[in-house]
Amino acid sequence: MTFSVAQAVSALSLLPLPAKIRNPKPRTIVTRRRNPFVPFSSKVEERGVTFETGDSFFRCESATGRDLGILAAALHRRSLGGSLRVLDAMCGCGVRSLRYLVQAEADFVWANDACDGYRRLITSNLTSVVSRLSSGGERRWVVTHCDANRLLTERYLQRDHFDLIDVDSFGSDSSFIGSAISAVKAGGLLYITSTDGFSSGGHRPQHSLSSYGAYVRPMPYSNEVGLRVLIGGALRESAASGFLVYPLFSYYSYHGPVFRVMLQVCRGHLQDNSNYGFISYCNKCGHSQTFHWAELGQITCSCCNGMVCHSMVLSGPLWTGPLHDTSFVSEMLTLARDWGWACKSKKCFDLEKLLNQMVDESEPRLPPGYIKLDEIARRAKINTPPASAIITALKEQGYAACRSHIIPNAIKTDCPISSCMSTARELQGERSINHLQMPV
Ligand SMILES: C[S@@+](CC[C@H](N)C(=O)[O-])C[C@H]1O[C@@H](n2cnc3c(N)ncnc32)[C@H](O)[C@@H]1O
Repeated sequence: MTFSVAQAVSALSLLPLPAKIRNPKPRTIVTRRRNPFVPFSSKVEERGVTFETGDSFFRCESATGRDLGILAAALHRRSLGGSLRVLDAMCGCGVRSLRYLVQAEADFVWANDACDGYRRLITSNLTSVVSRLSSGGERRWVVTHCDANRLLTERYLQRDHFDLIDVDSFGSDSSFIGSAISAVKAGGLLYITSTDGFSSGGHRPQHSLSSYGAYVRPMPYSNEVGLRVLIGGALRESAASGFLVYPLFSYYSYHGPVFRVMLQVCRGHLQDNSNYGFISYCNKCGHSQTFHWAELGQITCSCCNGMVCHSMVLSGPLWTGPLHDTSFVSEMLTLARDWGWACKSKKCFDLEKLLNQMVDESEPRLPPGYIKLDEIARRAKINTPPASAIITALKEQGYAACRSHIIPNAIKTDCPISSCMSTARELQGERSINHLQMPV
């Protein structure tokens, strides 16, 4: 499908600009109904914005991923002094484009989806809420139907760079990462996705090697590995053209599964201390380690007494640094509270909890991976310790420790698993004594 700006502009019409949503509603409501353009459709309300999904690929479960993208976009717009151009490369029914326009107050959104059958759906969704032209006669949005790679490359060749590029792709198609990096402004944001849980689980290492340049082996924290492989793949691509990427937030969702990362693209070159290396897991003792490239060839586990360690598996290269930027996710939390999307009460606690966990996970001392509480219990031959108790005990010993947003019954910590086991044993001992001392 070819595209020209003239075609996009020719479709412009003047419609009144609707009132802005000042206090987006914190719920998603879905109503099935007939749409005049498509055989069957759902009318969906997401954070106060209403749209039709038609026969496009749309998942209500991805609403949190969209919330996070919108919050990041709004913060980025603020940091730029109030101007934001977004390219939504795989827009489906156009829900993100709509939300970037209305909630993040993007000045311009380029909504693209390869499927030209979605055209009426996308334009109808956008026109029903946002006029195509601003009051000053500037285009607010265009809709095209190109292959994402072609569109991104065309924009790069036209020197038409964007503040935020969102590529909501399926599987582990990474072919667009390089073209997206070339079309984003220096300092801009890139929101990318993978839905390939099979590769992150280490079940087809050649596949992850082709997509992200990382050989992935089975590890107990494979869903965090999936996020790190995605960031690492983008880092490798960006380094080839003199850029580096840093994760502002990383989000795993079990619906799919879906791995999403919001990256900031900055000029730079890989250094020896770049967080791009290898992680290991020892199946014998459960110890995880991080290795730099210079340490390749000297990798072993302390339980193997310096000998070749057949119980160890190594994955990488991948991102070994923090999953999130502390100040950015803290600002996202503040903004989500301001908008009524996050709060301590039940109705909006999910996003509050998620963003708080992301703030905790962003602690720079925390190494890659998490330790499942069941693994501590199995290795220490005790009952599974309560997460809150072991986190408190580890912090009292000076370790960094928190819950993981990826899995509920696991902890992230810089404490070696052997010390986690002894701490858990002590906790169990204390609990037994307390139990014995309970008055009958
Ligand atoms: C996961 S869906 C998008 C969902 C949408 N972003 C949302 O939040 O509801 C992926 C979309 O990408 C489109 N697509 C697939 N391959 C594409 C390509 N190479 N270029 C552009 N769009 C593509 C599909 O038609 C599909 O609508």
